Amino acid sequence: MKALILSGGKGTRLRPLTYTGAKQLVPVANKPILWYGIEAIAAAGITEVGIVISPETGEEVKAKTGDGDRFGIQITYILQEQPAGLAHAVKVAQPFLKDSPFILYLGDNLVQGELGLFLEHFQSRDLDALTLLCHVPNPSAFGVAKVDEQGRVLQLVEKPLDPPSNLALVGIYFFSPVIHEAIASIQPSARGELEITDAIQSLIDQQKFVEALQIQGWWLDTGKKDDLLEANQIILDTCLTSSIQGQVDAASKISGRVQICAGSRIINCTIRGPVVIGNNCHLENCFIGPYSSIGDAVKLVDADLEHSVILQGATIVGIHQRIVDSVIGQRVQLRVAPQRPKALRFMIGDDCQIELCQ
Ligand code: TTP
Repeated sequence: MKALILSGGKGTRLRPLTYTGAKQLVPVANKPILWYGIEAIAAAGITEVGIVISPETGEEVKAKTGDGDRFGIQITYILQEQPAGLAHAVKVAQPFLKDSPFILYLGDNLVQGELGLFLEHFQSRDLDALTLLCHVPNPSAFGVAKVDEQGRVLQLVEKPLDPPSNLALVGIYFFSPVIHEAIASIQPSARGELEITDAIQSLIDQQKFVEALQIQGWWLDTGKKDDLLEANQIILDTCLTSSIQGQVDAASKISGRVQICAGSRIINCTIRGPVVIGNNCHLENCFIGPYSSIGDAVKLVDADLEHSVILQGATIVGIHQRIVDSVIGQRVQLRVAPQRPKALRFMIGDDCQIELCQ
């Protein structure tokens, strides 16, 4: 059994962060999203892992993630020249996958729980494809499956206007090598991509063994800002343990689960967990509320925030209106003058979203 993680794509929904970096490396609770998938795969005992990368962000993914040693696996990077669809990514990876069965894992997805039980189901029933499904309130926004009582998949539809069920396809699939023939038989969709749903539908049409299992816990596709914040909240809620390695002065008040990494200095701050603060940060006269993740080398002075993700190297000074539900990119500088400002001076990149709300 091998695994293929998709870490290419365009990432248009997470612009402007994805103009300068891979969306799969955006941190959730200060760890790249991609690494959660790698860890789940490694925990399932799979050691041969291919990661599909794009020409734009591939080097960054490689540099950050490495050869797999830190996860106890062996990673092979596979370049996909164009983001021509999930099935296209599998096609490009065929020389790596050879005739092995494999897990296909979308690198921006997070799922609660282990893959082991699903893997066992796939292997013991000798399936050609196993898809994972999750109940969603808005199935029209997803790929949706119609499944019979035995768990056999009857039909898959992409973003249906009239959904056959409210079971959305989670971005994790198990395939036998027959998927390659199915991919070879399909044509690009109306949006010009080779769709994995079309390839699975072709397996269904050929009476191959395609089943589905419903996941019990949460599933998050972190492709948009609010999903990213939700993922951050859930991971901080479920996985964060307290540890204080940095320096906290006597005037600061820390409550709840808070992690402060080495080299960080906390001066006269109130921090209410769950909160994670990376290495070498400087926080002074701040309120940091629940569900905040602060990356390495961040400087926050006279600033209040909660339910936000602040990326590496950002600086925020003089903002006591509470910053909420925000994602602040790497090296961003946000400064407000101590007196009531008479002017606002901006240099804001393309596709940024700034809301000054009541
Ligand atoms: P998507 O989120 O469906 O696509 P995208 O990354 O292009 O994002 P957007 O819709 O915001 O433009 O992709 C799911 C995962 O698969 C994600 O980790 C990127 C990856 N991917 C590839 O590696 N190759 C591809 O051709 C596509 C379409 C996606």
